[in-house]
Amino acid sequence: MDILKKIQKYREEEQKLKWEGTFAEYLEIVKEKPWVAQSAHSRVYNMIKDAGVEEIDGKKKYNFFSGQLFGLEEALERLVEEYFHPAAKRLDVRKRILLLMGPVSGGKSTLVTMLKRGLEAYSYTDRGAVYAIKGCPMHEDPLHLIPHNLRDEFYKEYGIRIEGNLSPLNMMRLEKEYGGRIEDVMVERIFFSEDKRVGIGTFSPSDPKSQDIADLTGSIDFSTIAQYGSESDPRAYRFDGELNKANRGIMEFQEMLKCDEKFLWHLLSLTQEGNFKAGRFALISADELIVAHTNETEYRSFIANKKNEALHSRIIVMPIPYNLKVSEEERIYEKMIRESDVADVHIAPHTLRVAAMFTILTRLKEPKRGDIDLVKKMRLYDGELVEGFNEVDVEELKKEYPDEGMSGIDPRYVINRISSCIIRKEVPSINALDVLRALKEGLEHHPSISKEDRERYLNFISIARKEYDEIAKREVQKAFVYSYEESAKTLMDNYLDNVEAYCNKAKIRDPLTGEEMNPDEKLMRSIEEQIGISENAKKAFREEILIRISAYARKGQRFDYNSHERLREAIQKKLFADLKDIVKITTSTKTPDEQQLKKINEVVARLIDEYGYNSTSANELLRYVGSLLNR
Ligand SMILES: Nc1ncnc2c1ncn2[C@@H]1O[C@H](COP(=O)(O)OP(=O)(O)OP(=O)(O)O)[C@@H](O)[C@H]1O
Ligand SMILES: [Mg+2]
Repeated sequence: MDILKKIQKYREEEQKLKWEGTFAEYLEIVKEKPWVAQSAHSRVYNMIKDAGVEEIDGKKKYNFFSGQLFGLEEALERLVEEYFHPAAKRLDVRKRILLLMGPVSGGKSTLVTMLKRGLEAYSYTDRGAVYAIKGCPMHEDPLHLIPHNLRDEFYKEYGIRIEGNLSPLNMMRLEKEYGGRIEDVMVERIFFSEDKRVGIGTFSPSDPKSQDIADLTGSIDFSTIAQYGSESDPRAYRFDGELNKANRGIMEFQEMLKCDEKFLWHLLSLTQEGNFKAGRFALISADELIVAHTNETEYRSFIANKKNEALHSRIIVMPIPYNLKVSEEERIYEKMIRESDVADVHIAPHTLRVAAMFTILTRLKEPKRGDIDLVKKMRLYDGELVEGFNEVDVEELKKEYPDEGMSGIDPRYVINRISSCIIRKEVPSINALDVLRALKEGLEHHPSISKEDRERYLNFISIARKEYDEIAKREVQKAFVYSYEESAKTLMDNYLDNVEAYCNKAKIRDPLTGEEMNPDEKLMRSIEEQIGISENAKKAFREEILIRISAYARKGQRFDYNSHERLREAIQKKLFADLKDIVKITTSTKTPDEQQLKKINEVVARLIDEYGYNSTSANELLRYVGSLLNR
């Protein structure tokens, strides 16, 4: 379909959703779909819930956020359970300003933007539909029209509680335009849009001296005072501040604590109890989620000031720490690169992972328990299996530092270093070493890193480098084997046949000659030695494997190459040991002979076809591994 047709279709769909009618007709809709009368907080909560919630090991994962925010599951669960959910239930927290507190580039703005864009889209759906008094600059809730003394009756009939007073402007319009006939007041369906200033507002502090509270609450329209005769006529007032425009939806307060203290006071007294004051009018009921963000330093200095105590109690603080999982960090970089203009540059496999390892190490705190180091902790946090540790250990580690993730390297820094390294390299292809080098150079000029941290960080770069060396070696060795998985499987099957015969004191049949032979002790030992199993321990090891196989069989599962971690390691090492010399010679020779050249080309082709390299990065990898093996 061509784009013009799509545009037309879009317009038609939009047209179809439009609705307007009298208040009496609106009540019919309310009866049929009571959710249209929900509060802003409840709408936000339902939007999140409607996108789907998965529960994995007792932890909730909200699909609403999972497309764009990675590794923040715990913080998000807390945010939903401790703020959005109770706020939706009309508990008191909804009257406070939600303050997201976290380190730079930790995803705070992304989160708020998701809520804003999400709410815009949600208002187009049936479940997220919103209606308002027509022609009201604040898109006031039509139910405010129902007088206070009838609200109990209304609750009995409709099961909906009405909160808030009719605004001064609509009070006047009701009299002047509708002669007091509430049932005739026109109502329309509205669609949230930040661009059109409907239900979504943003405020960011400017120069504290010139910051005007009118930006939030609107101001007198002097050109119309003459017409209406008085400044206190609501028609002579422009209700076009951000708080007005965000009514029924979300208001984002950027860098709130950067505002002047006086201004903040003003703001918080404005917003307390779900009301705000504008001009000379009675309090205006605001039905909106106010969300602000700030970093930890600003927040600490804010609460350290005794004068701010009262303000503090009107804010609810939710921490948004950095992600602490290597794989999720990798996804963050992938996303940021996809969105950037370097998206078409080739990034060799493992590059982002190695960068992510470095970043996560800078964010983690040294474990207090003696039996675990930072690298193991990093692995455990990422859900990897580390021998001798389990879930309980992970929980324990997390409890050691409840505020972990509030410091360290931010993702934007890493992306900036990656970009600068892309620009510097002549070919549009980068690898892990390029990135580690760029990260290292960047540390020299990083303005906000202390000397002490710089030392620590340099050390993390070497750790990440060592991890990469292992990955690189393994990758090349794998690529040298014609089909790695196949070879590993064959070797494993062979080993298991022999182990079985050994344990059962049986013979083994040669598949070629059909001859009966004793189990191949040499073969078994050559594998076992790879993981340090001594002559004395071999019997126990083999028996353990046999028990494992029959346990699998009982459960109807197949014991395979991945079922036994240590055995897998042994097989892998054995395969590589057999290869070592050929890899070493082939990769490091400066003048390869014909045979070697053929092998190199084969390996490069495999790296490209099966492992995701391009020819530049595959050749770089081979050269690097060659130098490693010759050290
Ligand atoms: N956990 C995360 N998941 C996905 N993307 C993230 C995450 N953390 C940071 N990012 C990405 O990093 C970049 C910076 O994030 P964002 O602007 O949301 O941070 P912020 O907390 O508002 O930072 P600042 O304090 O500098 O305003 C964005 O591109 C964002 O997508
Ligand atoms: Mg931000």
